[in-house]
Amino acid sequence: MEEIKGRVGSESKHVLMVPYQSQGHINPLLNFSKRLSSKGVRVTIVISIFISKSMHRLTSTTLPDSIQFETISDGYDQGGFAKVDSIATSLSRFEAIGTKNLRELIQKYDSSDHPINCIVYDPVLPWALDAAKEFGLLGAAFFTQMCGVNYIYYNVYHGLLKLPISSTTPLSFPGFPLLELKDMPSFVNDPSSYPAYLELIMNQYINIHKADFMLVNSFYKLEDQVVDTMSELLTIGPTVPSFHLDKRVPNDTGNDLNVHQLDSSAIGWLKTKPPGSVVYVSFGSMVSMNPEQMEQIALGLKGSGFNFLWVITGLEKKKLSPELFDEMCEGGKGLVVNWIHQLEVLSNQAIGCFITHCGWNSTIEAMSLGVPLVAMPQWTDQPTVAKFIEDVWKVGLRVKANENGIMKREEIEFCLRQVMEKDIGKELRINAKNWREMAIEAVSEGGTSDNNINEFVKNIAIGLN
Ligand code: UDX
Repeated sequence: MEEIKGRVGSESKHVLMVPYQSQGHINPLLNFSKRLSSKGVRVTIVISIFISKSMHRLTSTTLPDSIQFETISDGYDQGGFAKVDSIATSLSRFEAIGTKNLRELIQKYDSSDHPINCIVYDPVLPWALDAAKEFGLLGAAFFTQMCGVNYIYYNVYHGLLKLPISSTTPLSFPGFPLLELKDMPSFVNDPSSYPAYLELIMNQYINIHKADFMLVNSFYKLEDQVVDTMSELLTIGPTVPSFHLDKRVPNDTGNDLNVHQLDSSAIGWLKTKPPGSVVYVSFGSMVSMNPEQMEQIALGLKGSGFNFLWVITGLEKKKLSPELFDEMCEGGKGLVVNWIHQLEVLSNQAIGCFITHCGWNSTIEAMSLGVPLVAMPQWTDQPTVAKFIEDVWKVGLRVKANENGIMKREEIEFCLRQVMEKDIGKELRINAKNWREMAIEAVSEGGTSDNNINEFVKNIAIGLN
């Protein structure tokens, strides 16, 4: 196919982004919006009223004028996620209210100078694709998680992988290391504990045959075989891995919207610490930690003696006793913050490693900045990501859990020492830096992701038949 140079015909094109309304799902769509905007495409991102009210914009970066926001109700305008009684109810409420709002939005733009051509939607909101098709628009499913995890879910949806998994022998999929049950996404490993989430995930595929494109927040070399297999299964237009990273990190890839107020003390504090001496700890925006597990982390950090910066949001702090809290932070060893600019922190030279829940965004952000990981997966896609972190990309060590699923302080301390002090830590850091280089290559001009994005832009510019 003829290669797109610059912005041929894309100026008049307008994409509506419909993310699932949580930080971990908004960030990748926002980054993708920036890529599209740099190719001359106008983008409007749909945010719920509650999120828009609680959102904090980064002042260090400004979004281009070609990226705008529209707010719609998701049925929880006053309390947001905190008011959600059950995930199933919240999703059907969002579907009913969201579909109506989305239709109105499409109609509003229809009579403007910038009618919408394409809806890019999070596949956990399949009704957004139905709305696109109702109005004859192009629809692109944007999977925010790694391609491998989507491949597993796809197999479950089509009955190729039957739940509950009865086999005790490790499972084999093309392009994967052998997966034990503990490496499977939690909704698959333990379906009866998460019926509503499993349904949400399965619903991603109910109408996907109507989508014109499938986009995945990854890049080719990271999951080449899986991407090839997936592209054969879902032949619905080009698979467009779109890992977002630029040479000018962190600001260029900054996560401009934050659902919590940023704590500005972290960067000043990091400046007082020697290079590579600080353990950064964060479990993303959704994990609700078992208090026993919190305590083990606190004890592990304290026992290790390393400096640490730990993001603990809101009520989660209450899970630690005030005595332990004071003890672990004693002597300026540790700083606990509510929310930080993660990319800025990860790119700070004081950071030696990252204790992460292996949320997909956190994982690729760390790899994009060459930071080695200590993996403590909690749920959803995270166990599978942890498996790849340790055995495929070799950028981190996974903390072993005991028979009750708790990762004990001794195990945490052991992994921290390995990554912070031993030769293996150096190797992990080198590997992470290599992945960073490959990611930069993928998104640079002529790279796999850049070409795929050009292809996508070209297709929305000329329209698909
Ligand atoms: C959720 C799921 O849990 C995750 O597994 C899935 O892959 C995406 O959706 P979340 O748990 O929030 O996401 O984790 P993650 O994917 O890592 O996203 C968190 C985002 O918040 C990252 O982009 C990170 O940079 C940002 N963040 C986190 C901050 O900006 N500041 C912080 O203090 C902590």
